[in-house]
Amino acid sequence: MSISRRTFLASSAAAALVPSKVVASTQRLWAAPVLAQILAGELSESGPTPSLGFNGNTPGPLLKVRQGEELSVTFENRIGQESSIHWHGIRIANEMDGVPGLTQDAVPDGGEFAYRFVAPDAGTFWYHSHSRSWEQVARGLYGPLIVEEITPPDVDADIIIFVDDWRIDEDAKFIDDFDGMFHFAHGGRMGNYARVIPSQSSVRRGDRIRLRLINTANARVFPLDLSGIEGKLVALDGMPLEQVEDIGTVTLAPAQRADIIADVLDDIEFSFWTGQDNYALGTIAVEGANPSARNATILPLPSNGIAKPTEEPDRREILRMQGGAMGGQHPGEDIWSFNGVSDLTDEPWLKLDRGTTVQISLVNDTSFPHGIHLHGQHFYEVANDGSLGPLRDTSLVNARESRDIICVFDNPGRWFLHCHMLGHSATGMKTWVEVT
Ligand code: C2O
Ligand code: CU
Repeated sequence: MSISRRTFLASSAAAALVPSKVVASTQRLWAAPVLAQILAGELSESGPTPSLGFNGNTPGPLLKVRQGEELSVTFENRIGQESSIHWHGIRIANEMDGVPGLTQDAVPDGGEFAYRFVAPDAGTFWYHSHSRSWEQVARGLYGPLIVEEITPPDVDADIIIFVDDWRIDEDAKFIDDFDGMFHFAHGGRMGNYARVIPSQSSVRRGDRIRLRLINTANARVFPLDLSGIEGKLVALDGMPLEQVEDIGTVTLAPAQRADIIADVLDDIEFSFWTGQDNYALGTIAVEGANPSARNATILPLPSNGIAKPTEEPDRREILRMQGGAMGGQHPGEDIWSFNGVSDLTDEPWLKLDRGTTVQISLVNDTSFPHGIHLHGQHFYEVANDGSLGPLRDTSLVNARESRDIICVFDNPGRWFLHCHMLGHSATGMKTWVEVT
């Protein structure tokens, strides 16, 4: 990791704000170039960064629906190249999943696509470009998608916090090495500047808050530390934990989310361990005090009722990650592969009857971590003792390690399965599964 401290002041980045607009029923989401004030604090003097955004901003507008409601979004592409939108983590109707070549044609520049789908699960999700995503997401094409519980937990503030990094030069421009082979073959294209983007900049002492953390970085795994709060981890990747957990360090691979419910004791400071030192990501400041602080126990959120796997899986499979720099031999034709096969093939990796339970060993034979994302359904991570861990849509597998997941494939369609280190997916680490 190389975040240059000379070029970029690491600490006390003042947090800029996500516009918190709730857009009503049929909405327009137009993608176009924007100027974004990415560098914060003193660095902001370098000026804004030419970026891509939705409706004039990056991150894009807050899309919010109630659980079970339909979201209807007309996407308009004005970015000068093809694009599409993926609704990350939503158990969606397949034709709305936003994957060019698998579920739809890419939307040409100047074109439109009407996305319309039901959001079956309450939780923290996000949307992002799924075309040249390693560049378009890095340039800013993402935003929050929140599905509200029928009865939301009782909190004083509900705060979305994007955690991201960017590769920026001294004139605040993106370094134009999105296609850099060096990045692709290693851990992915890491930013040299990182911070949080919270949807509000202050809270009161004594507030009970919900924090929705979303890692939107292309490649960086953030082991996040939060200070100034006392509370519980209540959900991962949009799905409630059966039991709330102590917060500790919250490690988020790209695309992963975590929900926390906590009471505010002091300024909330976000930081992460880079491997060398602690890097400050920004602060939500305390202003004033809440005269009627809550003291009810923090309880689990209501379950989304995802199907539980059968005692014995119907099938067992291995998904072996191979390739990359430093010792990943494989016969695939690109930098990375799954089971020796790079990129999408005409035939799916797995053809499954709807409802099949599959236990998949994610085996990382490479020298880098990978965040493996399955579209269209959540899966359970399996703990070493065989017990069911949290439900996730993206599983982090560290270098030379492996992890089993178990999934009831009950959503019909053609589902993309890939590394969410977006440059890895771009250079081979992707496949697909067909459920009929
Ligand atoms: Cu969040 Cu296939 O992506
Ligand atoms: Cu990867």
